[in-house]
Amino acid sequence: MTESNFNETIYLSMNEDVRLGVERGYFRSGLEHYELYGKREGRKLVRFDPNSHSIQDYTRLVRTLIDGHPDNLDLAMAKAVGSSTLESFRDFGDRQYHVLCRFGLQNGQAIYDLACGSGRTASALLRHSWHGEYRGADIIPDLVNYATSCNPGFRFFVHPDYSIHADNDSQDMIYSWSLFTHLQIEETFLYAKDCYRALKPGGVFIFSFLTLQEPSHRQIFLNHVTELEYGQPRVHLDAFLDQGTIITLFTQMLNFKHLTFIDANDPSTTPIGSFGQALAVFTK
Ligand SMILES: C[S@@+](CC[C@H](N)C(=O)[O-])C[C@H]1O[C@@H](n2cnc3c(N)ncnc32)[C@H](O)[C@@H]1O
Repeated sequence: MTESNFNETIYLSMNEDVRLGVERGYFRSGLEHYELYGKREGRKLVRFDPNSHSIQDYTRLVRTLIDGHPDNLDLAMAKAVGSSTLESFRDFGDRQYHVLCRFGLQNGQAIYDLACGSGRTASALLRHSWHGEYRGADIIPDLVNYATSCNPGFRFFVHPDYSIHADNDSQDMIYSWSLFTHLQIEETFLYAKDCYRALKPGGVFIFSFLTLQEPSHRQIFLNHVTELEYGQPRVHLDAFLDQGTIITLFTQMLNFKHLTFIDANDPSTTPIGSFGQALAVFTK
């Protein structure tokens, strides 16, 4: 293993003890730890196959956007998470913040932003003067670096693993906006299982999803049908869930308690309107 093929950021983000060891000067780098101990201990370098759809699709998408906006990184980073303008990046961040408040967000809590992207929610939390222990994880280093630079005091990780980078029973709230919309159901299940482990008893898990029950989401599905029909490349996987499947996965195959579902177009979802994707809320 050499510096050129070893991903220092990912190794440190997946091995908290090594990160602390480097911070405290016990090792010069994650690479040094890996060569001395990690290899023998069978430490993971990365869980995700670099050819996995998530890494492939999002690396390509983010690279294309950065290259396409050489003078406007902010806009590229907004588009990377699905906001076409800086205004909508801000507006949607505010809606995310209001949903968190509705389900019990308070100052001082430990919260985990699963698939934090370029920090849309984190920026809203800062705008609304929230303070507490924030952790944001994503698989794409460019997004994590941008989120880190825009949100001082918040902790972000590159974490290409179907897990929550936090101790057992440690999080008051875990949320994931528009992640399960891009995953196969087995991947969603793996994340959900580990969310359960990492949440405090009584902790809240909120996620958004696409569903064919929602007429406006059907168009996304139909666009993919057309792509398939005409052999066009897709930007990324879009996956559709329904309430029955979610209940089975979360309350029968895992031990979550179901709190509520919210329709994508329910105007009372937040003080500034609907969310656009359907929401599911569970507690541990
Ligand atoms: C539509 S964006 C939403 C980002 C953020 N949640 C927000 O609302 O601003 C989807 C995010 O999921 C991340 N992602 C895709 N596949 C992932 C996976 N398997 N595990 C974790 N994150 C993933 C992408 O890198 C991207 O940041």
